[in-house]
Amino acid sequence: MKDEVFSLPADFTLGTATASLQIEGGDTNNSWYRWSMKGGTVKDGTNSLVACDHWNRIDEDVSLMKKLRVNGYRMSLEWSRIEPEEGTFSATAFEHYREELVKLREAGIEPMVTLHHFSNPLWLEDDGGWTDPRVVGRFERYTEEAVRRLGDLVSRWATINEPNVYLHGGYLEGFWPPGERSVSSFFRGAVHMIGAHIAAYRTIHAVRSVLGHDGTAVGPVHHLRVFDPLADRPGERFACRLTDRFFQRLFTEGMATGRVLVPSSGRYPFGRGDFQDFFGVNYYTRDMVAFRPCKPGRMFAELSVREGAAVNDLGWEIYPEGLYRICRKYYEQYRKPVYITENGTCDAADAFRTRYVYDHLREVRRLIDDGIDVRGYYHWTLMDNFEWAEGESARFGLIETDYETQKRTIRPSGKFYADFCKNRGVTDAMLKRYFGVKQ
Ligand code: FCB
Repeated sequence: MKDEVFSLPADFTLGTATASLQIEGGDTNNSWYRWSMKGGTVKDGTNSLVACDHWNRIDEDVSLMKKLRVNGYRMSLEWSRIEPEEGTFSATAFEHYREELVKLREAGIEPMVTLHHFSNPLWLEDDGGWTDPRVVGRFERYTEEAVRRLGDLVSRWATINEPNVYLHGGYLEGFWPPGERSVSSFFRGAVHMIGAHIAAYRTIHAVRSVLGHDGTAVGPVHHLRVFDPLADRPGERFACRLTDRFFQRLFTEGMATGRVLVPSSGRYPFGRGDFQDFFGVNYYTRDMVAFRPCKPGRMFAELSVREGAAVNDLGWEIYPEGLYRICRKYYEQYRKPVYITENGTCDAADAFRTRYVYDHLREVRRLIDDGIDVRGYYHWTLMDNFEWAEGESARFGLIETDYETQKRTIRPSGKFYADFCKNRGVTDAMLKRYFGVKQ
């Protein structure tokens, strides 16, 4: 595609996304802190104790968001701070989040709040975690309390972030806490995450309506990849379908309708219905799939990056068209407004992030032109942060974080995004400034 000017609708949400554990710092009562202190668990040996010290820097970070000219922000609540011991809720944590939400609103930034983004309170982690059926009721109780205390300030709620990625890392491959390697734990976790999403969906609506608020929007946030066959052969197509089914469809279908695709669980163990007001898409990349008959435990698939593809610092293919394909596919299936709840790239030198943002937002324009109801885009991420097992080494921020001094510096790509938000699109002047296009 040629570089061209384009714009997005005036009411479109343009924001950034973060997760509490990755930016806040200061909390030792959660599964990720403990995991990162074990040693050998995080690539660069860093941990989440300080991260971006966001807990103490709300004012500064909200004013940075204002500089970026965003009108949306996706953040998460740290369950371990809110419910430090089972059944005991922290007034201090709620006050803190209220203050943050009020500041965002005053800055004209609409929050989308995620209830679970990979980290658990230690009491939960040590008492069965997500493989224990009690987690569904526990998550429901936490959700109810969070919405009672914060529900007047938040109408957009995301229940659980990327259940597939979380369970894959924590329960199937074991490179994330709690470090299990068990197919049956993965499936049990999947069933419970589906149940927890459905319980939270119902609870959020019920509590917000008792509080007298309308306009509530609740959705799941899925990590969705394009899986393409490495060769146009039946084996490859079969491996693609199977990978898609167990890595993606199990979760998208379960959370949307209650239908659980795991054979032993019964079809609708939590009831049948319509459990999403929007469909949250986290999109980063695509994988090529080869058929490997000797790998039944891996869905007969071996994943690789397309030969010759442009890749980011972590080796992930940069494939903007995938955003179009994913959003279109799931919109056609569920007919729900789509929020792109995460999209971004790991680029420490900020060498290709501006281009990445341009190309992906261009796909958003194309989706809207083709009748796909995309309502928002939250760039991952506001500032470099603690990137799970990659630690501080992987840099996804529009803003550079200096972890020694906590100085934040807006990168050129951040300036591009700010211009985009201000103009609600790309202008001729921006093409010239950022891509050297002659007028
Ligand atoms: C997503 C996660 C987010 C961050 C980005 C890079 O899978 O939701 O926390 O790690 O990837």
